[in-house]
Amino acid sequence: MVLANKLNITNQIELNKFEEKISKQKAKQLFETGKINDIEVGTFNGLSQIHKFLFSDIYDFAGKIRDVNISKGNFRFASLTYLKASLENIDKMPQTNFDEIIEKYVEINIAHPFREGNGRSARIWLDLILKSEIKKVIDWNLVNKEEYLSAMERSIVKDIEIKHILKNALTDKINEREIFMKGIDISYYYEGYAEFKIEEL
Ligand SMILES: Nc1ncnc2c1ncn2[C@@H]1O[C@H](COP(=O)(O)OP(=O)(O)O)[C@@H](O)[C@H]1O
Ligand SMILES: [Mg+2]
Repeated sequence: MVLANKLNITNQIELNKFEEKISKQKAKQLFETGKINDIEVGTFNGLSQIHKFLFSDIYDFAGKIRDVNISKGNFRFASLTYLKASLENIDKMPQTNFDEIIEKYVEINIAHPFREGNGRSARIWLDLILKSEIKKVIDWNLVNKEEYLSAMERSIVKDIEIKHILKNALTDKINEREIFMKGIDISYYYEGYAEFKIEEL
């Protein structure tokens, strides 16, 4: 079933297209207006600000904690019963070095606070933490889709693979427009959205 949306679209393919187009335009705006620099770094509140910014024209649940249990593959993300407590704990996790930051990122993925759009908003959130704490970001160009997604699946039991993959993709070009814009296109590509290029929107 297609998720209820503000565009009243009932066809999944059509919804995917509009979701990609509108939220990529918003991602571009987030960077160009400098609003990205106002996002709270490393908290659920900050993640929620990102999610709301990207998806508020599409979904009522933008920026809001989900009210259903969800799973992907064989994994069931944090149960609703514990979700709020889990997010409060994640807020308190340290983020002073690369390993701690990735451990925090793994936990936010396990929490999966939103009904949709967790992957895409969490990758922006991760880059903001890396940028602020260790003056690096991920060059997502260097991160292979299949390897990344399989490492994210594995990260629940072992985070060594995701740490390895992301460590090898760090760059110090933290303020470069092209790194950000390409990163968004790739982040969407990981999730199956590749109809539009952000710079052409
Ligand atoms: N089997 C899995 N186990 C753990 N995490 C997963 C699994 N499958 C996908 N993920 C994570 O979930 C993210 C996708 O979540 P989703 O809410 O659909 O985000 P988006 O809408 O941005 O695609 C992926 O980027 C990945 O990090
Ligand atoms: Mg998705």
